[in-house]
Amino acid sequence: MPPSFAIRRASVADLDLVFRLHVDSVQAHCGSHYDEAQMQAWFAERSGENYRSAVEQGALWIAESEGEPVGFTEFFPGLISMLFVRGTSSGRGWGRRLLNFAITGASAGSADPIRLESTLNAEAFYRHNGFEALGPGHLSRPGGVLLPTILMVHRR
Ligand SMILES: CC(C)(COP(=O)(O)OP(=O)(O)OC[C@H]1O[C@@H](n2cnc3c(N)ncnc32)[C@H](O)[C@@H]1OP(=O)(O)O)[C@@H](O)C(=O)NCCC(=O)NCCS
Repeated sequence: MPPSFAIRRASVADLDLVFRLHVDSVQAHCGSHYDEAQMQAWFAERSGENYRSAVEQGALWIAESEGEPVGFTEFFPGLISMLFVRGTSSGRGWGRRLLNFAITGASAGSADPIRLESTLNAEAFYRHNGFEALGPGHLSRPGGVLLPTILMVHRR
């Protein structure tokens, strides 16, 4: 029997869990495309509290397989703002299923193309799943550290 898979809305009880999933995913997947200083700065001065606003808006969703958290996504109408799969859970189709869920959710209430800002390592994943690159972007971190990104859209 294939492993179970479900996506549920995150609650404020999940703030630390989401933070842990996010750190795990970045450490597992992003080191190939970002240097040591960027990896160090990624979560500087961050905690579960950074997700509170999105959770309170009902915008953050957790994927579980066999009852264990395997990733999460955050989206708003016309925007997928985060999508991360735990390192040990990657390569099993959970990222694609989370992305399809997020595309459907972000499509509700917006007729515009769906935007996202991809980390460098995930660009090929999003291209593979129907997104196209618009150009470079970046995230800013304490100490003036910049994390280069790729601005992408999905035209429905
Ligand atoms: C990118 C990420 C979400 C992929 O999740 P995943 O669960 O490992 O991916 P899946 O197993 O669902 O793969 C789905 C498809 O995409 C392909 N794919 C997955 N990662 C890929 C990559 N880095 N490059 C190209 N294709 C990729 C798979 O081969 C698969 O192809 P198929 O549909 O032909 O079978 C995951 O690696 C991750 O969380 N990375 C770090 C997060 C991140 O940087 N997010 C961007 C910020 S928004």
